[in-house]
Amino acid sequence: MAEDRRRLNRGADDAIGGGTPADRANPDRLVYADWSERLEMGLPLIDAQHKRFFELAASFQGNGDEVRVIKTLAILSDYIRSHLRDEEALMAAAHYPGLEAHRRQHAEFRSLLAALVGRARQMSLDAIADEVKFLVNGWFYRHIITVDFEYAPYLVPGHSGKPAAPKDKGT
Ligand SMILES: [Fe+2]
Ligand SMILES: [Fe+2]
Repeated sequence: MAEDRRRLNRGADDAIGGGTPADRANPDRLVYADWSERLEMGLPLIDAQHKRFFELAASFQGNGDEVRVIKTLAILSDYIRSHLRDEEALMAAAHYPGLEAHRRQHAEFRSLLAALVGRARQMSLDAIADEVKFLVNGWFYRHIITVDFEYAPYLVPGHSGKPAAPKDKGT
């Protein structure tokens, strides 16, 4: 249900695994989150690209201009595709042993994204915004904190391979 998808579960730490077809059937399986510093891996190029996805995704909320939404979706799609290429090149250069499994997740993400781009003109703007949230704040967030962090120790000496603990927001 669209309303359910809008429900955010910020700061939860129980997200596991990558995107699966079951996520499509039941998006509520995913934890949804915005970008935060805990997602930084210590790789400036990759960190900046990840952050930019979330910024672009946020711009879909309440965006009532169809031309702008379609254009932003094309920008987001190009941006994500070049990120996936950059990340795969870095993993290959580091001889990361999990490269093939990681590539499969990227391939799945590319096809989810291509399906959205292909359908977008027949969708309402709210439905596009919901789908972008599912892809970036749900699917991609989980991808970063799980499989992206797994390659971090191969590229950043001394990296724990885990996202930073959420900061205590205090009062
Ligand atoms: Fe990745
Ligand atoms: Fe990534």
